[in-house]
Amino acid sequence: MTKNQQTKRDFVAEHVRSIPRSGIRDFFDIVQSMDNVISLGIGEPGFVTPWHIREAAIFALEHGKTSYTSNLGLLKLRRLIGAYLQDHFHIEYDPNTEILIAVGVSEALDIALRAIVNPGDEVLYHEPCYVSYHPSVQLAHGVGKAIRTRAENRFTLNAEDIAASITPRTKAILLNFPSNPTGATLTHEEVEKIARVCIDHDLLVITDEIYSELTYSGQHSSIAAVPGMKERTIFLHGFSKAFAMTGFRIGYACAPPSLTEAMLRIHQYSMLCASIISQEAAIEALERGLDDIATMREQYRLRRNFIVKSFNEIGLPCHMPNGAFYAFPSIRETGLTSREFSVQLLEQQRVAVVPGDAFGPGGEGHVRASYCGSMIDMEKAAERIALFVRNLK
Ligand SMILES: Cc1ncc(COP(=O)(O)O)c(C=O)c1O
Repeated sequence: MTKNQQTKRDFVAEHVRSIPRSGIRDFFDIVQSMDNVISLGIGEPGFVTPWHIREAAIFALEHGKTSYTSNLGLLKLRRLIGAYLQDHFHIEYDPNTEILIAVGVSEALDIALRAIVNPGDEVLYHEPCYVSYHPSVQLAHGVGKAIRTRAENRFTLNAEDIAASITPRTKAILLNFPSNPTGATLTHEEVEKIARVCIDHDLLVITDEIYSELTYSGQHSSIAAVPGMKERTIFLHGFSKAFAMTGFRIGYACAPPSLTEAMLRIHQYSMLCASIISQEAAIEALERGLDDIATMREQYRLRRNFIVKSFNEIGLPCHMPNGAFYAFPSIRETGLTSREFSVQLLEQQRVAVVPGDAFGPGGEGHVRASYCGSMIDMEKAAERIALFVRNLK
């Protein structure tokens, strides 16, 4: 920029200026510029959206469904979501007043935080965590406070650690089980203990359960279903992961009427509504797509078993993740930082994994490997990683 083009002020808001770029995106800009890379990097289902769901979107277009919908979303979709949550999560939400269709869990999370955070309010979250949690709290003018989870505890969240992190400014806690990036899940007893702390300290819970269908053993247990919790919970879910519908950008937020109304006020002025085409596809997913979930989950299970076994054999200790589609092995024994490991692995063997510190300081010493790609890719990646680690010695 030449001198006379410069502005006197920096127009970017201070709280935006202080937000770092996503570590994952930066890393994957490098990956995109290279050939022959096997990517265990991106958290996207390795399946195309099932055909009947894509067809429903095409059908909607063919029939001229190109309009806005109600701000809350199509009532038919909200009713189906209500029934789905009752059957599978044992939570009752009124489709008229307690369910809002959003543009992915991403938007649902944003409006949930903006609806509840006053400037300076503290929001707890467990870390390592999904890359957008801390910035999303910051964008809502809140103060994010991380609670460390650890490999030796399977990265589960301990109720005592939550209690110890609460201050008079703490308003809410953000939960994500099954978790990205660790694949951790919680038992029903663990969920109940966390609920007890939230009730005792009058906290609101935002629970991102986007990976709940990808739970490999035991039943997924939602904190919203614990007696006394619905009143203080914003439940977030979506279609991206279980139905392989990331590109449709469709999710939802469920909460008691006053909280739903607060989220609606933001959503109606910022987003207006989710795409009608995606909503029609989501209707098809819930009406006829539940078997697709089971088929994909079984494939992920095989890939998980293979990649976790491979990491342990290679000498990169890896716990068995019970949910989502990520393995989170420790790379400490190589003596490299997670960033050095990831960059060198990419340069020398053309395998992309995500450095653990992209998920917060607690992720250092680990890398995240998505096992949602094909089994052939898992096998090739395991061979290349083994070679890389052998050559380090
Ligand atoms: C924990 C978690 N929440 C939310 C999202 C975003 O979901 P959506 O595609 O519904 O916006 C992701 C995507 O990776 C995620 O891992």
